[in-house]
Order: sequence, then C-alpha cells, then structure tokens
Amino acid sequence: MRLLAFLSLLALVLQESGTASLPRKERKRREEQMPREGDSFEVLPLGNDVLNPDNYGEVIDLSNYEELTDYGDQLPEVKVTSFAPATRISPAKSTTAPRTPSSNPTMTRPTTARLLLSSQPNHGLPTCLVCVCLGSSVYCDDIDLEDIPPLPRRTAYLYARFNRISRIRAEDFEGLTKLKRIDLSSNLISSIDNDAFRLLHALQDLILPENQLEALPVLPSGIEILDVRQNRLRSSGIQPVAFRAMEKLQFLYLSDNLLDSIPGPLPLSLRSVHLQNNLIETMQRDVFCDPEEHKHTRRQLEDIRLDGNPINLSLFPSAYFCLPRLPIGRFT
Ligand SMILES: *[C@@H]1O[C@H](CO)[C@@H](O)[C@H](O)[C@H]1NC(C)=O
Repeated sequence: MRLLAFLSLLALVLQESGTASLPRKERKRREEQMPREGDSFEVLPLGNDVLNPDNYGEVIDLSNYEELTDYGDQLPEVKVTSFAPATRISPAKSTTAPRTPSSNPTMTRPTTARLLLSSQPNHGLPTCLVCVCLGSSVYCDDIDLEDIPPLPRRTAYLYARFNRISRIRAEDFEGLTKLKRIDLSSNLISSIDNDAFRLLHALQDLILPENQLEALPVLPSGIEILDVRQNRLRSSGIQPVAFRAMEKLQFLYLSDNLLDSIPGPLPLSLRSVHLQNNLIETMQRDVFCDPEEHKHTRRQLEDIRLDGNPINLSLFPSAYFCLPRLPIGRFT
C-alpha cells in the first residue's frame, strides 16, 4: 500500500516535470489526462490499450508511457526529495540563464546545473548546462536548438522536441551506443544522413513526427517503435526492404505523409501499422499475408489503418485472410 502511494506520488512529480517543458497547448492537453484522485494507477497503462481501436488518440500519444518507462530504470538512484527542486526549472526557462546573463538573483538555474554536473563527474559537457541531464536522460525540449548538441556518452534517452533542428548529421550520434530512445518530435528536420542511426544497436524508439522528412535513412534492426507521422515521406524515400530485417518492430506510424504504396515486406513482429491520410491507391496481395501459405496467420497485427487514402479496400478481398482483424478504411 505504501509502495502504491509512493509510486503515485512519483508519477505526479514526473508528470509535473515532463509537462513543465512543453508548449502551453500541449501542456494543457496533458493536464487533462492527469490522474485524478481516486483514479487507479497502473505502471504500464499503454500495454493493453495500444491495440484498442477506440483509443487512437492515446496510441498516438506515447508521452505518458515514455515518462514512466524512461524514469523506471532510475528509480533506485533518484529520491523524490532531492529530485523535486530540479523539476521546477523547465529547460525552456533555463536557456535564458546561460545564454543571456541575467541580473535577476532569483534565477536558480545555474546553481542547479552545477549541482547536476558535480553529481555526475564523468561528463562536464556544456550540453548539460543548456539541457537538463538526469541519469541517462537528456532533456532539451523547446530551447531553439538548431543542431543536435554534443551528448554525454551514456545518454540512453534523448528528448529534443519543439526545436528548430533541420538536419541530422552522420556524426551527431556517433559512438552513442547506449541510446535507446531519440525523440525529435516537432522540429524542422528535412534531411538525415544515411548513416546517422545505422550503428545505434541499442536504439528501440525513434520518434520523429511533425518534421519535413521526404526519406528515411538506414535504420538499425533493433527498433521497436518507429514514428514518422506528419512528415513529407514519399514511397520513393523508403528503401524497398527497409523494414524486413527489423524483427523487433512493433509499431510503425507513418500517417499523414505522401506515401502512394504500403511499404513492405512488413516484419512478423508488427502489431500496429498506421498509414492513414496518405495517397495509397492500391496494394500488393501479399503485403500482409503470404498467399502461398493459407494456414499462416499474423495474430500480432491487429491494428492496420488505411483510412484517408484513395484505396478501395473491397478490391483486395484475398489480402486479409491471415489477419485477426480487417484494416480500417473504406470498404464499399
Ligand atoms: C469498390 O470495389 C467494390 C468491389 O469491386 C465495388 O463493388 C465498389 O463499387 C467499389 N467502390 C468504389 C467507390 O469504387
């Protein structure tokens, strides 16, 4: 019972720290999702919800999930008492301190940054003055970044959302072999060097929605979640067998792009593929099911979205036999 109370308190503190750095609109939306008194608290709320078609809003918004999982491995290190002061300072506010020296004596940021640095003797990078470094997480949300900053070697989670990054270079993530999650939502990224992510063998979540990408670079095979919603992806920008070797890929979010075909072959690990609001007019018969193997099934793949495309799904009746559920889209 006390553990439950502690977890709830921690979740609230973390949620507070996560929302503090977001633009107002986003923050408000998150606040509406905050747990209320009496709500039960689950450690992994997304696990079961993710395939429920009534819940697409939440499926798309992985933010609540990520905050819990990211901090999960730090629980033993971080005490709520010592953690609380750091969370009051949002990264957005913090940048004004190092960049434009302020006469305002109540500006607490530099002190906090120094405290954080001194408690982490292995890296004294200026990035942790501009961003917030906590354990293996680096938070650089909403601070007008134009490039990926140099990152501490042990960075496992990078958040650089709501910035103005326009390009990812091959050397930006060089040697960062511990990276598990890169979240660059809502930037201006229009190009990524082909090798930028290739050697990140630990990378599980690559989160790139709301950018200007026309093509995907080479992707490491350990990725579980690939989110490239709301970009300018064209089918010619996805290599023909890009996803086949990604045997851990579970969530592929490619909605609101300019794709004119369903990318394939899709790995058997896939649970969710979102392709709504593209320009898809037709599909290969074997894109989901192998027509030679009438007994095979893809139980995992429960969530296919093809709505908002010009395709008439009724024209491909033999394409779905192995699926546990029909794709969502226009059947007429
Ligand atoms: C879609 O395809 C089905 C099956 O061939 C056909 O009966 C229906 O008229 C088509 N609908 C449209 C809107 O083209």
